[in-house]
Amino acid sequence: MRLTQAIIILLTIVFFSNNQNLLASGDETFKNLKPNFSFEGPFGKFDRESLKRGYQVYSEVCSSCHGMKQLSFRNLSQPGGPEFSINKVKEIASEYFILDGSDEYGDPIERSRVPSDRFQPPFDNKDAAKASNNGAYPPDLSLIVKARSDGANYIYSLLSGYEEPMPESMHIDESLSYNPWFSGSAIAMAQPLYDEMVEYDDGTIASISQMSYDVANFLAWAAEPTMEERKSLGLIVMGFLFIFLILMFFSVRRLFKDVH
Ligand code: HEC
Repeated sequence: MRLTQAIIILLTIVFFSNNQNLLASGDETFKNLKPNFSFEGPFGKFDRESLKRGYQVYSEVCSSCHGMKQLSFRNLSQPGGPEFSINKVKEIASEYFILDGSDEYGDPIERSRVPSDRFQPPFDNKDAAKASNNGAYPPDLSLIVKARSDGANYIYSLLSGYEEPMPESMHIDESLSYNPWFSGSAIAMAQPLYDEMVEYDDGTIASISQMSYDVANFLAWAAEPTMEERKSLGLIVMGFLFIFLILMFFSVRRLFKDVH
């Protein structure tokens, strides 16, 4: 009996302890920077303005190499996300094109995208993507925050962490860039962000760290668009369990009041 109790307590501690550390890869040389995202913690919510800016960075910089195939334009207006107005989303979508159906001669018809369409992929297929990037494949970013341990902090660190000059002891291929946050410190993605590379619609100054923060925030939302809903449901469940616990406590006391 004691052993079972000990095992249950141990499992509970492991489950509720910060399991990021358990997931972190062994060869991690650098600890991720932590810019303190607003969505962290049980009450955390996404910063809407930052999500809007993050979309701007993705669409103006990253989307030339990385797709986000899980996202549709309409997601940009849904609650819990950047919450662009539906008219803005229509305007954004209409800047992209898609082949849809064929005409009477069997030739494909091109039309502009609408909110229900997916984001435009930058390349027709994997080989074309590799051919444009010296043989390296720029991964789809829809779920990248979930695919890397401590995802949002890692992406923030990676994007703002290109360093020059690299240590003299490092020797890397010319087609690669030095980035101490990437495993092996040599990455096939050249530094994508430079100060004031985008002009933010809301007037925020676009420093490298600001853009890295906003785009990492946007990618965190994209990987889990219903995070806010999940957290508020979690709080309701916890509240219910708490009330249930109190009720059970008094019922048990009453039931056993004559047992000595
Ligand atoms: C010119 C093309 C290009 C642009 C622009 C670009 N990337 Fe990349 N990215 C790549 C390539 C190629 C790789 C694969 C690198 C490798 O495997 O060495 C990559 C890899 C990544 C990775 C994965 C790193 C890992 O741990 O595997 C992330 C995250 C990423 N890019 C985010 C971004 C973001 C965010 C932007 C926009 C700010 C961006 N990239 C812009 C080409 C690009």
